[in-house]
Amino acid sequence: MIVTIDGPAGSGKSTAARGLSQRLGFEFLDTGAMYRCVALAVLNQGIDPADSKSVGDVSQQIRITFADAHVILNGEDVTQAIRTAEVSETASKVAQYPVVREALVDLQRQAAEGVNIVSEGRDQGTVVFPDALCKFFLIADPEERARRRFDEMQGQDQEITREEILQQIHQRDQRDESRTVAPLKPADDAVEINTSQLSIEEVLDQLEQTVRKRQ
Ligand code: C5P
Repeated sequence: MIVTIDGPAGSGKSTAARGLSQRLGFEFLDTGAMYRCVALAVLNQGIDPADSKSVGDVSQQIRITFADAHVILNGEDVTQAIRTAEVSETASKVAQYPVVREALVDLQRQAAEGVNIVSEGRDQGTVVFPDALCKFFLIADPEERARRRFDEMQGQDQEITREEILQQIHQRDQRDESRTVAPLKPADDAVEINTSQLSIEEVLDQLEQTVRKRQ
């Protein structure tokens, strides 16, 4: 059984997907972390993100695994390292290349084989798992999304203002929505939820009730 949760940055989808997977006893897949891993590998190797050929090669060679809440890239724990503003920005650039998407979509489908899973990203309901049992598209007001990202980044040693975060989010959304391959958009059969005024528990209640009705 597959449940997909897509939406823009800061819409609350990661927290919701993780929480929902726990409530349902399903696996959880953070596909944004995979694009972030490609970005980090590209930056670490000094590759220009505009060099689609080299970026494509990186995406086909890297090993990404998940261990509990940790992300492991080529054997190294990169859970924190993939959360910087630079990696976010680079991830949305490398995510535009078809070769990168193909490599990661293969890995995502492999991860879902034979298990119940909640998979979270931008194209999970539209492209990766079009036959999913339940598809959600989470949205939130821009100010609220910037506030959440800002809170997330506290204690990470990164100096950035809420205004800068808002700008970055807009840029990233625009890139994600306007790319030709697998753009960010709701699937026709997705349930859309605006999380701006909802607590995480309220979001989880709505998601869980919808899934349980279809199980
Ligand atoms: O969700 P997160 O903010 O970690 O994703 C980082 C970037 O990875 C997004 O801005 C987007 O460009 C890309 N991404 C994607 N498709 C996915 C998940 C993430 O293109 N399924």
